Amino acid sequence: MDKFIIEGGNKLQGRVKISGSKNAALPIIAAAILTDEELILKNIPDLKDITTMINLLKELGCFAKKENGTLYIRCKNIKSSKAPYELVKTMRASILVLGPLLARTGVAYVSMPGGCAIGVRPINLHLKALEIMGANINIDKGYIVAQSKKLTGGEIYFDTPTVTGTENILMAAATAGGKTVIKNAAKEPEIVDLANILNNMGANIEGAGTSTIIVNGVKKLGGIEYSVMNDRIEAGTFMCAALITSSFIEIENAPVYAMDAIVDKFREAGGIVEQKGDNLIIAGGKIIKPVNIKTSVYPGFPTDMQAQFISVLSLAEGVSIVKETIFENRFQHVAELNRMNADIVVSNNQAVINGVETLIGATVMATDLRASASLVIAALAAEGVTEILRIYHLDRGYENMETKLANLGAKIRRIKA
Ligand code: EPU
Repeated sequence: MDKFIIEGGNKLQGRVKISGSKNAALPIIAAAILTDEELILKNIPDLKDITTMINLLKELGCFAKKENGTLYIRCKNIKSSKAPYELVKTMRASILVLGPLLARTGVAYVSMPGGCAIGVRPINLHLKALEIMGANINIDKGYIVAQSKKLTGGEIYFDTPTVTGTENILMAAATAGGKTVIKNAAKEPEIVDLANILNNMGANIEGAGTSTIIVNGVKKLGGIEYSVMNDRIEAGTFMCAALITSSFIEIENAPVYAMDAIVDKFREAGGIVEQKGDNLIIAGGKIIKPVNIKTSVYPGFPTDMQAQFISVLSLAEGVSIVKETIFENRFQHVAELNRMNADIVVSNNQAVINGVETLIGATVMATDLRASASLVIAALAAEGVTEILRIYHLDRGYENMETKLANLGAKIRRIKA
């Protein structure tokens, strides 16, 4: 397993370019199942999770070729309706093929994603919504077996807003008979990106980005060319890297329109942000101010930025409180940060962060994607050398992170296993 060696204490400077969004690209690739024509998808990041999704679609019979960030994908014929355990166990987002497969072939056989490092992560709401649309669903030997000759529209209310649940139902409803209304839908910008491409493919979707989405089913979707939105979480992660090292950097292609909550907490912590077109000029303050954060659904503060901000706040002048309200076990980075001299106490879903003067390099272990990013951020500011093990988690969701950081002047290297 690869690891990072980071020598802390260097300021960052220069420009970094943000890649296409992982969480927008994953459902958009799955949407290729809905048409027998070709999708040309631009701005697709080079990531482990993206490769897994492409391999999954190939397994179903789709043709896919990726060249310089552009994915050519065509599901002319679907040969198999099975998303096997071997692929799903490496990426929960494989569940995103459930809705489109069922819509296209009338049957989907998808391995149940288990829990993961950050929580139990049930998919009951995806299944309940598909049942409302007429699907017959059973669980057989760890697989979801979903069948429906023809999905029909229906009134769906999500008990809690679910991102991939909303995306699955958007895709299932796009070609269903009649009208589907999704209430208490998730409002994340990645859902708007998916609705945009579906509408360009010929779907009739209104209200994406609000809590009520209306989908009028159409007969057929077609192929088109589409460029995926940029990654707001990657942009936020580089903002945290600048904040913790009191650096001045320029972030190119940040999806600023989708980053209000991140920018707000960044400023509260003492950072300066200026928008210049699609770029963000970022300056860390002289000191880091303590900040209280509560994660919530969009447009609230994203759970996917919680770990990175905790690293920054571990060096704040004072006490910060961070509440995690989306996932029940998303504080695994804390124990590792404490090994680097942070002083953080977790109780239930709340972390109390007593700012310390210095973080000290140590050998630490990445436990999930955003936890890995938080350790990298802490290491950039720590005294001495930090060795971060198991960075395969990071490779799932950050494109060329070490190259991007090294170009900004960080002393970071990857040791190949
Ligand atoms: N939930 C249910 N039942 C369901 C679905 C969700 O109870 O059927 C609960 C979850 O347990 C959780 C809450 O609803 O408490 C929200 O979960 P959601 O379904 O929105 O999460 P997700 O769709 O599985 C996506 C992102 C995550 C991100 C969350 C929250 C993708 C591929 N994944 O997951 O991204 O943290 O939304 O914003 O879009 C990451 O990129 O590091 C990552 C984990």
